[in-house]
Amino acid sequence: MNKQTKVWKVFSDEKQEAHHYAEKLKEAVAALQAGKQVAFPTETVYGLGADARVTSAVKGIFEAKGRPSDNPLIVHIATKEQMTELVLPYHPLADALMDKFWPGPLTIILPVRPGSLSPLVTAGLSTVGIRMPDHPIALSLIAQSGCPLAAPSANRSGRPSPTLASHVFEDLQGKVAGIIDGGATGVGLESTVLEVIDTGHIRILRPGGVTIPMLQEAFPNIEIITESELESKQAPRSPGMKYTHYAPQGQLTLVEGKQELVEKYIHEQLIRNKEQQYKVGVLAFEEHIAAYSAEADIVLSLGSIHQLEQAAMKLYAALRQFDELDVQLIWSEVCEPVGIGEALMNRLLKAASHQMIHLL
Ligand code: TXA
Ligand code: MG
Repeated sequence: MNKQTKVWKVFSDEKQEAHHYAEKLKEAVAALQAGKQVAFPTETVYGLGADARVTSAVKGIFEAKGRPSDNPLIVHIATKEQMTELVLPYHPLADALMDKFWPGPLTIILPVRPGSLSPLVTAGLSTVGIRMPDHPIALSLIAQSGCPLAAPSANRSGRPSPTLASHVFEDLQGKVAGIIDGGATGVGLESTVLEVIDTGHIRILRPGGVTIPMLQEAFPNIEIITESELESKQAPRSPGMKYTHYAPQGQLTLVEGKQELVEKYIHEQLIRNKEQQYKVGVLAFEEHIAAYSAEADIVLSLGSIHQLEQAAMKLYAALRQFDELDVQLIWSEVCEPVGIGEALMNRLLKAASHQMIHLL
């Protein structure tokens, strides 16, 4: 069904209190209260929200995104009190994590209180992912509407997550009631998803803006297990991990090794690819751009190799730009999977369907 998608421009100002946005968000709030779907900015990526308690509203999210129904949604809240009616008693470490990192890019998997949420949100699991986003517009929208918001990233399934309202518009125009344009998101990659296991360990299901070093600093005595170590041994615990996400239309290949070798290898590939008349792109760190600009049709910068936060912010927009330009082959540099670099490499590997050349 084709809908008229409204776009509300709301200037987000950290210094303003939540009620400052009340007037500007009135129509979006009314739409959510009427069971419709509204995209909104968070500090990670844009989310597509609907009332998590209402099945028809949540169904609309899956339809607009073309999302498989066995992939559960994260529920966004504005206050801890709002969460109490949605979950059952949970581990004290989960509580300490909330106090330390909320609002912020951290989703915590908790036992769901039966009957409190639409079963579509949890995709039949006994747990629910909860997060309090660190964005004034998101927090105000949740508070004003009084709805816990189920919200996956606001892209069509299989496309890169949106870091600008224009990305949401590209993907969901005519499919949702409205889009709140609050400018560029902050982190640029989705939240860290984790669970506290009974033994009191943290298990990371998806790396994100709250990094392992940040967790270790806050909780030095807690053991942290990452899903990648488990992947080979069992089915993924986070259902979303099994889907190919974030794939650009062109074929993306990552190249890893000593920098001179990487540059030489990509350079040789570019010459070959050009001979074969492909449209070729390169994704590289700012310091290395010059090595590729003569041969590639387009080189996009991930910012400085010394500031991976920039790369996190730029990655998804870059993947979308390659699509827009109909680039057929994309070669990409990689980074150390440390700090935010871990989330970055996780998303790059997924976008590349794990195609990576290792140079010795
Ligand atoms: O930053 C973010 O988290 C963004 C913004 C909008 O908040 N949202 C987001 O949602 O990335 P989505 O739906 O694209 O990713 C949710 C991830 C999926 O991998 C899903 O499988 C996992 O969280 N997940 C949700 N509920 C879960 C549960 N109960 N147990 C395990 N994994 C869960
Ligand atoms: Mg997503």
